[in-house]
Amino acid sequence: MRIAMIGTGYVGLVSGACFSDFGHDVVCVDKDEGKIARLKQGQMPIYEPGLDVLVGNNVEAGRLSFTTDLVEGIAGADAIFIAVGTPTRRGDGFADLTYVYAAAAEIADALDGYTVVVNKSTVPVGTGAEVERIIRERRPDAAFDVASNPEFLREGAAIDDFKRPDRVVVGTNSPRAVEVMRELYRPLSLNEVPMVFTSRETAELTKYAANAFLATKITFINEVADICEKVGADVQQVARGIGLDGRIGAKFLHAGPGYGGSCFPKDTLALVHTAREAGTPFTIVQAVVDANAARKQAMADRIVAACNGVQGAKIAVLGLAFKPNTDDMRDAPSLDILPRLIEAGATIAAFDPESMDEARKHFGETITYCDDAYATMAGADAVVILTEWNEFRALDLKRIGGLLKRRIMVDLRNVYQPSELIPHGFAYHSIGRASVAP
Ligand code: UGA
Repeated sequence: MRIAMIGTGYVGLVSGACFSDFGHDVVCVDKDEGKIARLKQGQMPIYEPGLDVLVGNNVEAGRLSFTTDLVEGIAGADAIFIAVGTPTRRGDGFADLTYVYAAAAEIADALDGYTVVVNKSTVPVGTGAEVERIIRERRPDAAFDVASNPEFLREGAAIDDFKRPDRVVVGTNSPRAVEVMRELYRPLSLNEVPMVFTSRETAELTKYAANAFLATKITFINEVADICEKVGADVQQVARGIGLDGRIGAKFLHAGPGYGGSCFPKDTLALVHTAREAGTPFTIVQAVVDANAARKQAMADRIVAACNGVQGAKIAVLGLAFKPNTDDMRDAPSLDILPRLIEAGATIAAFDPESMDEARKHFGETITYCDDAYATMAGADAVVILTEWNEFRALDLKRIGGLLKRRIMVDLRNVYQPSELIPHGFAYHSIGRASVAP
């Protein structure tokens, strides 16, 4: 089949590349000329493991191409995916749908023959209906359906998540659109991936409910971690103890510095607003939003306390991205924690394997950028693990002990076991477990 993908952000580019790998002909369209030019040369705009190879192979096979020309891109398409950004609107927390509606209008003007217009962007309930209205108004004659097909992939594991999803959700009441969507996802039927067909509104809400539930699960375990620290329990064991209950599930019970990224913070806020507008306040998710914001601040205070104050102290920071295997720093805990430490008088030496360029945009000259983990630690008063990159999991603790001025580790991702640090004379502070003193 022929697919046009409007938007080459995380979701658009990964989905486009994966659909082409399924054997479909895919054209990715983006207004950003520089980005399209770089993609044509095989340069990826984001760091995502395996994406460069996947894109390269499918471009070479003639199934994947890039253009800035929407009319050319959607010509003859069976399905046009809208995968443009829906950032939080300044001031009120709603999702900003400007790009979605602009794409709908442009698509309308160029529609040719029966086409399914598919919303893959995360959009509030009712957006599909509005997209349909926009297209119908501009093209009363056109043959089309508008479906919702939310995406559940995670950054850093995006290709695998797309190709081996837990489920595919499609919202449409049109049997003709159902057929097209079934055909697009047919390669997944070999793995018996469940296809969930619903109304458009249900699919739209399912996406928000999924992200809000996961954010709630993380916040739940984070608050359990706080209790653990006070009562002498171990959060990792509690997580295992509850996670083995099939009704709860073991995933997303890893306590940490608070969730970040381009999705959970934005989508929880948007859902709270949708609920309020519907007259059914979503009190749990509101509490999650508040607790997560407070947590990031509390993490900075925890580092300050571990060092007995940071006035004049040098803090080595490992990891700046919101999670490993991405260079994305949107709503990363580092963005809250580092400025607070600097305000408290600390200097920061930081390293992240992929997000150093991104970090420069956020922190400018306010921190020192180092070439590797060990370089951050020379003469530092403490080392803080902010992101659990694999390369931080097996650091040479003896070497670190020699580099640091004071042997203090604040491990906000529970990468290490206290028993590993004790022999090296560290004061070790982690999440939801007892701190150890040398
Ligand atoms: C999230 C969802 O997991 C995807 O299903 C969804 O498609 C995506 O949002 C989206 O809406 O586009 P993502 O933001 O890439 O994916 O990353 P996650 O792996 O979900 O992590 C989000 C945040 O939660 C990170 O800051 C991570 O460190 C934190 N987290 C995650 C925890 O603190 N503990 C956990 O146990 C899991």
